Amino acid sequence: MGRILHIDASVENPQESYSRRVSAAVVSALTANRPEAAVSYLDLAFAPPPHIDRGLKAGWMTPAEQRTPNQAAAVARSEAYISELKAADVLVIGSPMYNLSVPSSLKTWIDNISIAGQTFRYTADGAAEGLLLGKKAYLALARGGIYSEGPASAFDYQEPYLRAVMGFLGVTDVEVIRAEGVAINPEIAQAALEAALSKAAGLKSLPLAA
Ligand SMILES: Cc1cc2nc3c(=O)[nH]c(=O)nc-3n(C[C@H](O)[C@H](O)[C@H](O)COP(=O)(O)O)c2cc1C
Repeated sequence: MGRILHIDASVENPQESYSRRVSAAVVSALTANRPEAAVSYLDLAFAPPPHIDRGLKAGWMTPAEQRTPNQAAAVARSEAYISELKAADVLVIGSPMYNLSVPSSLKTWIDNISIAGQTFRYTADGAAEGLLLGKKAYLALARGGIYSEGPASAFDYQEPYLRAVMGFLGVTDVEVIRAEGVAINPEIAQAALEAALSKAAGLKSLPLAA
């Protein structure tokens, strides 16, 4: 259980961003007293993945030796993201809410790693089955308004979406830490951040490798 893939997607800098501060606190709690833990980090806002295109789709459906250079390059990029993901025991995803959903960079990463035969498969009766088994995901979510309850909850396409994607890929152990209401006023923002950081700090370190 020693490998973490830490992903951030906020365009804000690490000192200002709520989701970045919470995701960092999650990683720091998980790796406390675990010098052997390996953390790989993807900053999707500052190094956005390329949008999927016909080259990627056709590339994955074409045997490696028959791919065009464009298809081969697109598949190689997608494969690199997928191997990093498969190698991780734990995912820590920091995501702001942008326009009711996740940042497009995070959606594009999801498009690059959700590949049939790699991270999920279709069974004989056509059902999708996730292939990323045995992993745990922490979602560090920030949003300006309150969506966990009340009238806006019907418009939350961030948390339910990320939970659905995780489940689709086979990651069923998902823990969410939210800083929400951060745009309402500074007092609510501060209290939301403190509660989220305190929840993160209370997480147990990763189990020692067997
Ligand atoms: C482009 C953009 C779109 C946003 N859309 C929403 C939204 O739909 N609902 C909401 O509650 N907050 C929205 N916000 C506010 C952010 O969710 C909030 O500022 C959050 O803290 C951003 O995460 P960060 O602090 O990690 O950058 C938006 C902010 C930006 C920059």
